[in-house]
Amino acid sequence: MANDGKGQTILIIDDHPTNIEVLYDALDQAGYKVLVEMDGWHGIETVKSYPPDLILLDVMMPGIDGFETCRQLKSQQTTCEIPIIFMTALNDTTDKVKGLGLGAVDYITKPFQQEEVLARIGIHLKLRRANLELAQQKDILEQRVQERTTELSQALDNFKNAQLQLVQSEKMATLGNLVAGVAHEINNPLGFLKGSMNNTEEYIQDLFNYVQCVQQHHPLLAPDVTNLAEKIDLEFLCEDLPKLLDSMRVATERITDISTSLRTFSRADTCEKVACNLHEGIESTLLILKYRLKASQKRPTIEVITDYGKLPPVKCFLGQLNQVFMNILANAIDVLDTESVGRTFAELEANSQQIIIRTEVSSDQNTVVIRIKDNGSGMPEDIKLRIFDHLFTTKEVGKGTGLGLAIARQIVEETHNGKLICNSILGEGTEFIIKIPVS
Ligand SMILES: Nc1ncnc2c1ncn2[C@@H]1O[C@H](COP(=O)(O)OP(=O)(O)OP(=O)(O)O)[C@@H](O)[C@H]1O
Ligand SMILES: [Mg+2]
Repeated sequence: MANDGKGQTILIIDDHPTNIEVLYDALDQAGYKVLVEMDGWHGIETVKSYPPDLILLDVMMPGIDGFETCRQLKSQQTTCEIPIIFMTALNDTTDKVKGLGLGAVDYITKPFQQEEVLARIGIHLKLRRANLELAQQKDILEQRVQERTTELSQALDNFKNAQLQLVQSEKMATLGNLVAGVAHEINNPLGFLKGSMNNTEEYIQDLFNYVQCVQQHHPLLAPDVTNLAEKIDLEFLCEDLPKLLDSMRVATERITDISTSLRTFSRADTCEKVACNLHEGIESTLLILKYRLKASQKRPTIEVITDYGKLPPVKCFLGQLNQVFMNILANAIDVLDTESVGRTFAELEANSQQIIIRTEVSSDQNTVVIRIKDNGSGMPEDIKLRIFDHLFTTKEVGKGTGLGLAIARQIVEETHNGKLICNSILGEGTEFIIKIPVS
């Protein structure tokens, strides 16, 4: 028993020196550290300054009695958990009940039975230790649950992001395949058309020569022949047919350009960076977006103005940069579409909706700079700060996922060591600047 109380402090609050003496000796011998106060006020002060592990509290004292002292200690957060044992007269059942009702854990009766007092104190200190440990375990557990919850929701967020990114790149890949397929399908008839055009030109030239030859050698043709020549306006036909053939050739060349652009766009992502002409990437992306730029029932055509500088070939993943151009251009078209709502055609035509694309190489020739600017509504500062955040969108559900610019920034800054900057003025428009190192 002598060492049981080591390190633990017990405060006796009692005004009877005899009681104090008896208890002090017993507790001291048992190894407890003992503090003594002779009235309630001083007792409360000591509890606050040197919180003991247990309090032995007398009922009858001058000043405030034991019950009031107990009430005050129990009413304060810092002291309410300290176990209090009342010291009462042997037969005073009312006091015992009242003390327990105020939150005391036990009572001991005078005259004190030393063994019993020490046994009771020992039990309550053990209980208190157990309670403290329990509270500590509860805190640790709560903290762990909190940590796990945070980890899990983080993992869930990551998973959702990864899923959305996958959907985005899958969409791009599908678009690429579709476009490649269309380009391929166009190419066969196009080849046939080009070949036939060459033959047609030759044949027509032969026919012209033949007609001329006949006219030279037979100036007087039969009246039926002369009539027919007049009827079909032979002279005009001979003059117009070569022009017609020229326009057909131009149209074929245009289709060839489109097909080349489609193939540039769809060029599957290479495993390593390849030197590319970025203008081809921009043009092919514009071609894919052409259907969104042209006039609709709601607004006139969005004017695309290109001002291309002389760019060196840039080592890059062109497929990915096309995705960047696509996201930025699509956002510009979105904002111009939204802006056109509630405005008349005449208003919009007077103030044409524009996307301006400028390219240049930095003065040290190390960086290619592409600026894509719209004259849409721009954005307020608080939105501008968040546009590159994953899943940040101001568009309605189903219209925007809020990934376009986050992915664009990743492609430009992480994959290509470049920089993606946004300048926007509310009411005037937005400009995105893409900077890519040449190699
Ligand atoms: N040119 C622009 N003018 C005004 N606001 C813009 C412009 N470009 C982007 N924003 C704002 O930035 C937000 C984030 O753009 P982001 O492309 O990342 O996502 P989104 O277009 O909403 O969805 P999606 O994932 O389909 O691209 C947009 O919702 C829009 O509020
Ligand atoms: Mg977008």
